[in-house]
Amino acid sequence: MSSKEDINCFESMYRSGHTPWDTGRPDKNLKEYLASLVSPGAKVLEIGCGTGDNAIFMARTGLKVTATEIVPMALQKAVEKAKKKSVNVNFLLRDIMEKDISGRPFDMAFDRGCFHHFDSLQKRRKFAQRISYHLREEGSWLSLIGNADDTRPGKGPPRLKALEVVEAVEPFFEILFLKSSYFDSNQDPPPRCWVLLGKKRKGAPLKATP
Ligand SMILES: C[S@@+](CC[C@H](N)C(=O)[O-])C[C@H]1O[C@@H](n2cnc3c(N)ncnc32)[C@H](O)[C@@H]1O
Repeated sequence: MSSKEDINCFESMYRSGHTPWDTGRPDKNLKEYLASLVSPGAKVLEIGCGTGDNAIFMARTGLKVTATEIVPMALQKAVEKAKKKSVNVNFLLRDIMEKDISGRPFDMAFDRGCFHHFDSLQKRRKFAQRISYHLREEGSWLSLIGNADDTRPGKGPPRLKALEVVEAVEPFFEILFLKSSYFDSNQDPPPRCWVLLGKKRKGAPLKATP
């Protein structure tokens, strides 16, 4: 998928209201790990923030949050939610694959369901490299990723094998853990996910090679 195709695809899902990932609350996996990764005042970058619940949650814990999206409608909802809750998040309409995000280096990056939609090793590597570029040395990346061990029938989040995650991420990050879990979901049963925690490698490559 090219970025233009990504925008069109996600835009039509937001327009139709078919956004099963959008639970209206922060994901329990993020809640479980956040405090052990960064302290209040740290700079966090969220990629693919959707309608903003995770970004707003992180900002409420005292983090300085920059959150990006490629779909204007989703970002607008996120801005409105944050305003309503009087929470300060730097929301940006930006494609990290195309343009740098101001504010680097960040202490931590987070994505829920963004990395996993890239449909080739080359694109996933590029995404991992772009995350790494925006982090300080030894900065953390927490990612929630669809899991190929999910045997539920029908559609759901893209499902990656552990090896597909590792191949893309390892050149840029030490993998501290890759743990099988479940997305926080309104679906029953919830989709399985991987919880990836990476630490940016010293001297991580500045380019992604296929
Ligand atoms: C499965 S949704 C998850 C949204 C949000 N993280 C959540 O958990 O509710 C993936 C999101 O990533 C966004 N996205 C896809 N590619 C992106 C990119 N290159 N940069 C920023 N956002 C992107 C999509 O528009 C979509 O909102």
